[in-house]
Amino acid sequence: MAKQAQATWGGRFSAGPAGLMLRFSESVSFDHRLAPFDIAGSKAHSAMLAKVGLISRKERDAIHRGLDGILREVRAGKFKWQTELEDVHMNIEQALTKRVPAAAKLHTARSRNDQVATDMRLYLKAACAEIGANLAAAQRAILKVAVKNGAVLIPGYTHLQRAQPVFLAHHLFAYLEMLQRDAKRFATVADHANWCPLGSGAIAGTTLRIDREFAAEALGFVDTAGRPRVTQNSMDAVSDRDLYVEFASACALTGVHFSRMAEDLILWASQEFKFIELPDAFCTGSSLMPQKKNPDSLELLRGKAARLQGNLHTLLVLVKGLPLTYNRDLQEDKPPVFDSHDQTALCLQVLAGTIAGLTVHKKKCAAAVADPALLATDLADYLVRKHVPFRTAHHAVGAVVKLAEQKCVGLNQLSFAEVKQVHPAFGRDWVQSFDLSKAMARRTGTGMPGPAQVARQFKRWQKILG
Ligand code: ARG
Repeated sequence: MAKQAQATWGGRFSAGPAGLMLRFSESVSFDHRLAPFDIAGSKAHSAMLAKVGLISRKERDAIHRGLDGILREVRAGKFKWQTELEDVHMNIEQALTKRVPAAAKLHTARSRNDQVATDMRLYLKAACAEIGANLAAAQRAILKVAVKNGAVLIPGYTHLQRAQPVFLAHHLFAYLEMLQRDAKRFATVADHANWCPLGSGAIAGTTLRIDREFAAEALGFVDTAGRPRVTQNSMDAVSDRDLYVEFASACALTGVHFSRMAEDLILWASQEFKFIELPDAFCTGSSLMPQKKNPDSLELLRGKAARLQGNLHTLLVLVKGLPLTYNRDLQEDKPPVFDSHDQTALCLQVLAGTIAGLTVHKKKCAAAVADPALLATDLADYLVRKHVPFRTAHHAVGAVVKLAEQKCVGLNQLSFAEVKQVHPAFGRDWVQSFDLSKAMARRTGTGMPGPAQVARQFKRWQKILG
């Protein structure tokens, strides 16, 4: 009988790996976090083996008890992870084999290739659920600020130039839309994760008669009707990493969103805007300049967004050009996936915390939005209501803006005679276009920032976010 080498695959080897190789190739330092999923997978697999008669029920029960014990030790931080044993799978299997002789049968009809694919699918389902909850929490923090400052108007910007007035809530609701799409994306990724690769073996399944559906169902890989979902091609199942790319992509896009929010808030918190005050708890000072209060949490959110894009890129490049099926390169898929998960979850918590603690300087907002130039388009619309073609109206109002600039007065400070000279369609009521609350009330269409629409959106978000 062949000598049992330390590694589970040692039968055909006469020498073990070099120390350097062990250090180079180990993944347990990061994949140990898959332990709960690996154990769940092994329990389902052994239950299936018992069901089809490849192990006895007694052996199954002994394996289950052993795995439960290992899980308890892992949870308590007492399990001894050994780098020499490469990865989470071999660490657990060897520990189990030491305790339960029947564990030598656990790897029947299984490879680490379908095992790790299964672990990662279970892991990603959980990660998506967690990030979904974090997204909702961040959305709730944003909604609270909107509710608290429901009457606040600010200038909306294009090209970072004052454009048109909007309710602050309308601006904040734009973020809710972005995060809601993110939540949908994570739900979709979770759905794509919901297929069980167990039974694909190393590449080509097994000659043993197994029951893939049974194992899938035991692990919760089921459709909405409770029917088991198993992957349909063994070669694809062990080498496909689309799911990881999709997950990292959802994280990267969420990062783009919180990075844009961060940038808005950084601008708003600057002395130049001063629309908001950031919470001390999420800012830092300068070691040199005593007056400084820096928006570090938001700047880090911007920075982390770059890291999330990097992870996505790492995964795409990792898989590109790999021949089917499994290649050890694929072990490098885990650090970027784990990092995207951890950083996205953390960033969303920091975003929620920063937003929950900010206060709005209502006077500063009011002063900024009082700029009559923000309603230049409303003045053009006034002329349109007097049957002036829009292009002509736009041109006329442009001339009015120019005149006001030349005279160094606000747009609404010109005399009726002066504007009448620019275009005869201006009536004495022209200046009413600058009544901000009337102007807002005219924005009645769905998706517009008028008060009735904003109220509608409040209700909608309250319903969605509970
Ligand atoms: N640690 C490995 C990984 O994450 C598990 C799969 C190993 N399979 C193999 N054929 N060496 O990719």
